[in-house]
Amino acid sequence: MNKDFRKSTVYQIYPKSFCDTNKDGLGDLRGVSEKLDYIKELGVDYIWLTPFFVSPQNDNGYDVEDYYNIDPRYGTMEDVEELIAEAGKRGMGLMFDMVFNHVSTNHEWFKKAMEGDPYYKDFFYFRKGKPDGSAPTNWVSKFGGSAWEYVEKFDEYYLHLFDVTQADLNWENENVRREVQNIVKFWMEKGVKGFRFDVINLISKAGFEDDPDGDGRKFYTDGPKIHQYLKELNANSFGQDPQIVTVGEMSSTTMENCFQYAGADTGELTMVFSFHHLKVDFMGNEKWVLVPADFQKLKDIMFDWQVNMEEHNAWNAVFWCNHDQPRVVSRFGDEGKYWKESAKMLGTIVHCLRGTPYVYQGEEIGMTNTDFTDISQFRDVESLNNYQILQDKGMSPSDALRIIQVHSRDNGRTPMQWDTSRYAGFTAEDSNAEPWIAVNSNHTKVNAADQLKDEDSIFHYYQKLIAMRKDLDVIAYGDIEPLDQKNPSVFAYRRTYEGHEMIVAANFYGRDYEWKKAPELEGFEKILGNYKETEVTAEGAIKMKPYEAVVYYK
Ligand code: GLC
Ligand code: CA
Repeated sequence: MNKDFRKSTVYQIYPKSFCDTNKDGLGDLRGVSEKLDYIKELGVDYIWLTPFFVSPQNDNGYDVEDYYNIDPRYGTMEDVEELIAEAGKRGMGLMFDMVFNHVSTNHEWFKKAMEGDPYYKDFFYFRKGKPDGSAPTNWVSKFGGSAWEYVEKFDEYYLHLFDVTQADLNWENENVRREVQNIVKFWMEKGVKGFRFDVINLISKAGFEDDPDGDGRKFYTDGPKIHQYLKELNANSFGQDPQIVTVGEMSSTTMENCFQYAGADTGELTMVFSFHHLKVDFMGNEKWVLVPADFQKLKDIMFDWQVNMEEHNAWNAVFWCNHDQPRVVSRFGDEGKYWKESAKMLGTIVHCLRGTPYVYQGEEIGMTNTDFTDISQFRDVESLNNYQILQDKGMSPSDALRIIQVHSRDNGRTPMQWDTSRYAGFTAEDSNAEPWIAVNSNHTKVNAADQLKDEDSIFHYYQKLIAMRKDLDVIAYGDIEPLDQKNPSVFAYRRTYEGHEMIVAANFYGRDYEWKKAPELEGFEKILGNYKETEVTAEGAIKMKPYEAVVYYK
């Protein structure tokens, strides 16, 4: 399997919500194997699976108890081996999700630390509190509350940047780093073709001080030894096989650091996820508010990353959706009247960019946010914590719920909609258990079975986008230039490569818009669009229909 990551597309699966084969209401690894032909038909090259290792599931597997074994709820080691082999037969490689910033407090290392074993205590950050007994620093956990948990028997606190059951690993300790390398090598030997490293830019802590004007992130984000640690991990594990593809999840990162993380010859990672473009409907870093998405900011951020990463010969992962994000068609498109058009438009923007596109399960059929009306329907620890925190600040339950409905990670976690049956085909109609999280009732309209039969579906449009990247070098290798960046309606850019040119233009809104500053299209051919006809005036303006997207090639 020889692949070029620049021509590749990755499909992300959240196994718990993908397909349940043993009727317990939880998706499983056999469910992924069962759907390989579907994934293959989309045309992708890699499948990224979020964690299915042994875990108490407080953060749905991002709290790992044992990196070498499979959580029985997801299946067995044989299931994993079969999945790797079956995907390989279809020309697809698996990417595993490695959580190395923290482990579950159920992990053997943490348990031994809690028994007072000094070797393992040094795997974590145990620190004395302040003289008044309060936490060592004022840092705030990403899921709300203090980032420190008090342990009475040591009269010390341990650091958890995420849930209290996710204890941060001390990467200063070389024994920790060696353990991590061994885990990566173990999975490489099983035939895994890539890795996604969870919040990897948080592993190097600069020191433990109060953050007078923030939540502490400046002390541990892109920390002082991060590049050294990544180079070391690369050299001692995945870097030994040049075919391995890696992507780092970079939380609140800076572009300057990403030039290093994902530089073509820096010896760190293949590419990076950054998230600034998905905060344009936040208030600064505050997610739990309702503000309209800022389109100008969205473009400015995306183009800034596109242009500068290219200039520094570094590579982006490009995406709208994952298991931590609301569904993009609900977020930046239209779930209603222009559902299909807007889903295709959003897909066009991402798939023609410079970078490796990621498709998150259900995005290719235009799945929408949840239709939950009660907090009891939500499952995500971050959502539930913040629902409480908002009310502690004085907000009414109904206002707090409204915010959770819009921003909850559960929007991306409802079961994959395969068909119109009772549980959308996620689990059998006579299943022994309800799905762990409710199926969206719109599965009678939004489902894979219908779209596979319909040539004009979102699924088939994504299939074309993915194939186009393989056919046209300009998409994979070309330079990028933003077009009419200040335009309030249109998202447009030009790609160029060895005498070829591509123009991509998208009307981001649900109203007609005449784009007068469209570039000269003489000699270009329209190779893709979400409307059959595109109207170009005698003066060369494009009369764009609601959410229209067009791709021209020369
Ligand atoms: C990443 C994961 C998210 C998880 C967190 C802590 O952001 O994508 O799902 O909760 O890391 O591991
Ligand atoms: Ca199951």
